[in-house]
Amino acid sequence: MTKTFHVTTFGCQMNEHDSERMKGMLVALGYAETEEQRDAELILFNTCSIREKADSRFISYLQLAASYKRRNPEIVIGVGGCWAQSVKDDVFRQFPYVDVAFGPGQVHKLAEFLTSDSLTAQGFFEFEGFTGHLPSARERDVQGWVQISAGCNMKCSYCIVPSTRGRQVDRPLDELVAEVREMVDGGVIEVTLLGQNVNAYGRAVRDGERTSFAALLHALDEIDGLRRVRYTSPHPQDMTEDVVLAHATLDSVCPHMHLPLQSGSSRILKAMRRTYDRGRFLDRVGLIRGHNPDIALTTDIIVGFPGETEADFAQTLEVCEEVGFDGAFTFIYSPRRDTEAAAFTDDFVPHEVAVERMERLVETVQRRAAERAQRFVGRTLDVLVEGPSRTDPSRLRGRSGHGKTVNFSGLAQAGEIVPVQITGSTSQTLSGEMSLLARALVS
Ligand code: 5AD
Ligand code: SF4
Repeated sequence: MTKTFHVTTFGCQMNEHDSERMKGMLVALGYAETEEQRDAELILFNTCSIREKADSRFISYLQLAASYKRRNPEIVIGVGGCWAQSVKDDVFRQFPYVDVAFGPGQVHKLAEFLTSDSLTAQGFFEFEGFTGHLPSARERDVQGWVQISAGCNMKCSYCIVPSTRGRQVDRPLDELVAEVREMVDGGVIEVTLLGQNVNAYGRAVRDGERTSFAALLHALDEIDGLRRVRYTSPHPQDMTEDVVLAHATLDSVCPHMHLPLQSGSSRILKAMRRTYDRGRFLDRVGLIRGHNPDIALTTDIIVGFPGETEADFAQTLEVCEEVGFDGAFTFIYSPRRDTEAAAFTDDFVPHEVAVERMERLVETVQRRAAERAQRFVGRTLDVLVEGPSRTDPSRLRGRSGHGKTVNFSGLAQAGEIVPVQITGSTSQTLSGEMSLLARALVS
């Protein structure tokens, strides 16, 4: 049955644009929009303004949503945008009925949440301030989402997906290529492929066709006008050399891979049933970087899994030091109903311990990400313009192929890909200036 959603948008044009991207993504995931908030199973708010307190109009809407949820606990409430960003995890403390919160423009975060039937994310959200009303920068929609598979055949012991979404089903390759071609004809230049275990694609196509994730990437690369292909989330087990090579050889496949580690301790990985150990994960990273030395690697990590000792956690920190991720989503373990790990109640890690580990983890990840980001300074990167910068409306904001947010000065329309000379970096964002000379050369 189709799930339904409703989005209430507060604030400026940029939020309107983000809401449209959110809606596009939800429709790609098979959701249908409702006119009224009270008819939706997924109620979303795209919030505005960096105020200490949320504005009262938003609160009254949110309380209304909470009253629907009291009647129907299956309803999911999500809060995104600038206010959510400004209070971060405090959203959950102030409004315990909120299921997911995400920062401005972090539509992919919502996609990950929804496709994983997940949890309360302790994110590592991109932090940018906000400065009131900004000019409209909305042009045609150039970014699209395509769900290539549903369900998951793995049995990760913490994960609710296998029990809620069932076994993996893949859509036929021809159908996906035709859909993407149509999107490109409609103006899309970047697609994100979605799936629970996206790189296991190809084995579970209904009509018996056998194909592979790499074959899909090759087929999409043939589509004229499709400039960027991204995907989320792959499993390290299925990160085969043909997929790694697709990054190296196909122009459209972005130099970014999100490769969930979950833990750096082989003992915990075993208890999580992740099917790889620390050594195998590091081998995969070696293979990926061997073929793609410049690729950005991001990851997901869970802290406080039952039985995680200080020594286990120290190994997670070690892997983060060694790999040097360009970013990470970090989660405190939370038991999910109908999962194997929900029964591991004996070795529960106390919440304070998990929070303290999380702080150390975020420090390590951020420090390494900041170091890694320095490699971009002095280079010219292609940036897909998304709109005005959130911190300084006289500047622009966009995303590089590596998935980095870039704030820059220049003149360009949302939806264009422009060369930007990078002059500065932090763990999360890059800054620079549009390179007019390079632009003249490409156009
Ligand atoms: N507790 C904490 N984090 C979880 N994730 C999935 N299930 C749980 C859970 N029960 C995290 C994993 C996954 C991401 C989408 O959510 O890190 O990769
Ligand atoms: Fe869940 Fe594991 Fe499947 Fe990911 S691979 S959806 S974590 S069972």
